[in-house]
Amino acid sequence: MLGVRGRGCVFVVSCCCFMFLAVAQTTSPSEVNALSAVKSSLNDPMKHLRNWNKGDPCKSNWTGVKCFDRIGNDGYLHVRELQLMNLNLSGSLAPTLGQLFHLEILDFMWNEITGSIPKEIGNIASLKLLLLNGNKLSGSLPEDLGYLSNLTRLQVDLNSISGPIPKSFASLDSLRHLHMNNNSISGQIPSGLSKLSNLLHLLLDNNNLSGYLPPEFASFPELRILQLDNNNFKGTEIPASYANMSRLVKLSLRNCGLQGTVPDLSRIHKLSYLDLSFNQLTGSIPSKKLSDNMTTINLSDNHLNGSIPRSFSDLPSLQRLSLENNFLIGSVPANIWRNMSFNTTTRLTLDLRNNSLSSIFGDLNPPENVTLRLQSNPICNNTSIRNIGQFCGSEAEGDGMPEHIKNSTMICPIQACPVDNFFEYAPASPVPCFCALPLRIGYRLKSPSFSYFPPYVYPFEMYLTTSLGLDLHQLSIDSFVWEEGPRLRMYLKLFPVFNGNDTIFNTIEIQRIRGRFTSWDFNGSDLFGPYELLNFTLLGIYSNMVSETQRESISKGILSAIIGAVACAFMVSAIVLLLTARNHPKFKHKLSRKNLSSKISQKIDGVKSFTFREMAQATDYFNISTQVGRGGYGKVFKGILSDNTMVAIKRAEEGSLQGQKEFLTEIELLSRLHHRNLVSLVGYCDEEGEQMLVYEFMLKGSLQDWLSAKAKENLNFGMRSRIALGSAKGILYLHTEAQPPVFHRDIKASNILLDSKFTAKVADFGLSRLAPVLDDEGNVPNHVSTVVKGTPGYLDPEYFLTHKLTDKSDVYSLGVVFLELLTGMKPISHGKNIVREVNVAYQSGMMFSIIDSRMGSYPSECVERFVDLALRCCQDKPEERPSMLAVVRELENILQLMPEIDSTLLESASIHSGKSAPSSSSNVTRLSSNASGSDLVSDVIPTISPR
Ligand SMILES: *[C@@H]1O[C@H](CO)[C@@H](O)[C@H](O)[C@H]1NC(C)=O
Ligand SMILES: *[C@@H]1O[C@H](CO)[C@@H](O)[C@H](O)[C@H]1NC(C)=O
Ligand SMILES: *[C@@H]1O[C@H](CO)[C@@H](O)[C@H](O)[C@H]1NC(C)=O
Ligand SMILES: *[C@@H]1O[C@H](CO)[C@@H](O)[C@H](O)[C@H]1NC(C)=O
Ligand SMILES: *[C@@H]1O[C@H](CO)[C@@H](O)[C@H](O)[C@H]1NC(C)=O
Repeated sequence: MLGVRGRGCVFVVSCCCFMFLAVAQTTSPSEVNALSAVKSSLNDPMKHLRNWNKGDPCKSNWTGVKCFDRIGNDGYLHVRELQLMNLNLSGSLAPTLGQLFHLEILDFMWNEITGSIPKEIGNIASLKLLLLNGNKLSGSLPEDLGYLSNLTRLQVDLNSISGPIPKSFASLDSLRHLHMNNNSISGQIPSGLSKLSNLLHLLLDNNNLSGYLPPEFASFPELRILQLDNNNFKGTEIPASYANMSRLVKLSLRNCGLQGTVPDLSRIHKLSYLDLSFNQLTGSIPSKKLSDNMTTINLSDNHLNGSIPRSFSDLPSLQRLSLENNFLIGSVPANIWRNMSFNTTTRLTLDLRNNSLSSIFGDLNPPENVTLRLQSNPICNNTSIRNIGQFCGSEAEGDGMPEHIKNSTMICPIQACPVDNFFEYAPASPVPCFCALPLRIGYRLKSPSFSYFPPYVYPFEMYLTTSLGLDLHQLSIDSFVWEEGPRLRMYLKLFPVFNGNDTIFNTIEIQRIRGRFTSWDFNGSDLFGPYELLNFTLLGIYSNMVSETQRESISKGILSAIIGAVACAFMVSAIVLLLTARNHPKFKHKLSRKNLSSKISQKIDGVKSFTFREMAQATDYFNISTQVGRGGYGKVFKGILSDNTMVAIKRAEEGSLQGQKEFLTEIELLSRLHHRNLVSLVGYCDEEGEQMLVYEFMLKGSLQDWLSAKAKENLNFGMRSRIALGSAKGILYLHTEAQPPVFHRDIKASNILLDSKFTAKVADFGLSRLAPVLDDEGNVPNHVSTVVKGTPGYLDPEYFLTHKLTDKSDVYSLGVVFLELLTGMKPISHGKNIVREVNVAYQSGMMFSIIDSRMGSYPSECVERFVDLALRCCQDKPEERPSMLAVVRELENILQLMPEIDSTLLESASIHSGKSAPSSSSNVTRLSSNASGSDLVSDVIPTISPR
């Protein structure tokens, strides 16, 4: 009997397996295993990879995994791209990456990954882009990477890689971009690299390279940029053959220990940028005229003698000529600007300081766009030359500050554009006041061939929009700043086209644009050089849209195949389980999984595990009348438990659900956070596919309610100061006492709740918001790089620009809350930003005119100090903001200065309340009779524990 059933089973199994292969193509099992191994060797504190165990990688939208649409010859789907940029990943790269045999793009940029580059990556013959820049990788470069004959782009810059450049790299036949700058790579540069017949950009600056510059480099057929600054080729010379690098646009050999003379580069027709500064070059500067394209000549800090070549006067695009700190003699070429036409965007800087120049050739009367610096030359002593003094001073240039390009003069009705949802007016749109949701992009030119951007803004905008297939007016360069390198970092916004209805990009378009950036599918530009993508930020509705289409992108045909396969697999496993495993211990284990999970939950100290039924009963089956709010996580309900305690229940929505293990880990973290100024967690529910968090209920609602124009009662200055202090203390605890530390990331008035005694309690912390943990060397990394979360108006501008999250980002947001407390204004209203408004009023001595009249009388010294503190919290530069500890101290000092805190002061809230308070305030009065003043300020009262 059993035998017959057994055979039947075998038949069913083989039939189903056949169907499985033929109909329901899945990802190649070895690639699935490889991805699992990749995940297990990474740390993922933000849980971006939490969907990497659900379903099939190619079908279930695993974060960052992109597959080929078509099925491979082996009947499986294959992973084509692994795009894991900027996800706070640490840990190491698993050698099993080498099993992703069909991979074309491997992208781990801007994470915190340590360990060495696995040599197995060299097995991925199909690889085109290997992008590991901006991590903490160490060890040496594996020889095996040289096997990657289809590789066009190798970026390992900004890591801690050491050891030599493998000779095998000479066989990377398709390579066009080799970026290995800012590491500790040492040894001789292999001359064989010159065989790379497609190489365009070779960036090896900021390493420990030594030996000599290979003369063979002259035979690179395509090389445009050679940047080797800050290495040590001590005592060697620039090979004379470099005069023949016919395609070169940029040669940068700053601070390389080079000796000998400056080669004659006049035959390089398109040379634009030459930097040989900080070497020990001797002799005179070659006199033959350089390319008309020259923007930058930097020969400063050498031992050059002789005179300044006359030919420098015939360079129409020149922006910077730096010859300072040499031994140059003869005359200042004062007619150098003769052939240049200046307009509002052009500028020329001539730095000739600290030489032996003794006369002037031409007229010393430069146009206003020319900066001429002559300090420490004999000519400065020649007082007979009119105006000489103004060029001999030591004034410094104001470089390095971000510059804003668009000074939009557009006058648009601000109320019509919902800035709260990250919408903005498109500055360049041909349709005036077109309000749309931009994509925000952090972008950096790694090695541009100019020194001054404004003349090239328009060509750059043309270049970028053409490359992206967009209209010129869709791009807005918000700001740019020069950084070490020099590299040019900018912040871009891309707006949708106005077509009557749409004010957003559709998902296909978003993915197309992002794909252009991340696949480097651009035509190169000699002038702008290589770029880096620092971040690609989807705010507002965009953040939800992208995931949805990815889900939809599974075509119906495949879907039915999946269903078939799943049904089949289910049948097989059901039969197999029933027949063979009924008594197997593992089976029993599976059946008891439910008990197991409740055992896990009981381990979480002091936090109760609720059943779904309890939650439903507490909220009248999630009746809409019990809903009290809604956050990023889901809806919030007011509930009454069976013991009559009032609680707030946060119910996760579909998109916020996490794996059970992750959820419990978070609960455990939250359960350990106890502070008087934090809303405490009472319990949770993890049942029936639901995840809920149960918090103590805050009777007085949120600070936002109390500051809104609709508020029925007013908070006086003393109460406001204490709310400020309480909030600061709660956040200080998260930063310093929580283990691991927590950055809140979304501090705002609506996340500061008030209990029945008006004690401020910070809410909504700790959800996937861990601060960075110590790295391998035990150092605290000073930032977390992540996608921008948070709320407009409260966002740290530096965080917004760089995605570097620090404790100072919370200081900024709290500063904005302080300004709200002081002025009653909203962070953004009618297009006005609270920080700017208060700053303007403060600086023009009009501060008291914007103080919220509703808070009654107050000691002006206290208010002044509070405003000053709030504005310091809101400084643009994080380092200029006070620490959270300093904020707490200062608020304590301010409260000390206040007149005695007693119930009369509390009552003053109703007595002195401004005109908007219609009636005597019952809540405030009740407060003053119920609570003694000291309750409100001291920390002596323990947190009312839910346990
Ligand atoms: C390398 O690229 C060529 C041309 O695109 C392609 O035909 C070949 O299959 C690629 N090699 C591998 C191993 O993928
Ligand atoms: C300024 O002059 C440069 C050439 O010197 C030219 O390319 C550019 O278009 C001019 N810009 C304006 C705004 O006229
Ligand atoms: C440059 O010179 C032009 C013409 O002299 C002038 O209109 C423009 O304002 C100057 N630009 C700057 C930045 O100084
Ligand atoms: C060099 O100058 C030519 C003509 O002046 C121009 O067409 C070309 O774009 C310039 N190249 C670079 C790299 O600036
Ligand atoms: C789909 O992938 C994106 C990122 O690639 C992720 O943000 C989103 O949550 C995913 N959606 C689902 C349903 O897994």
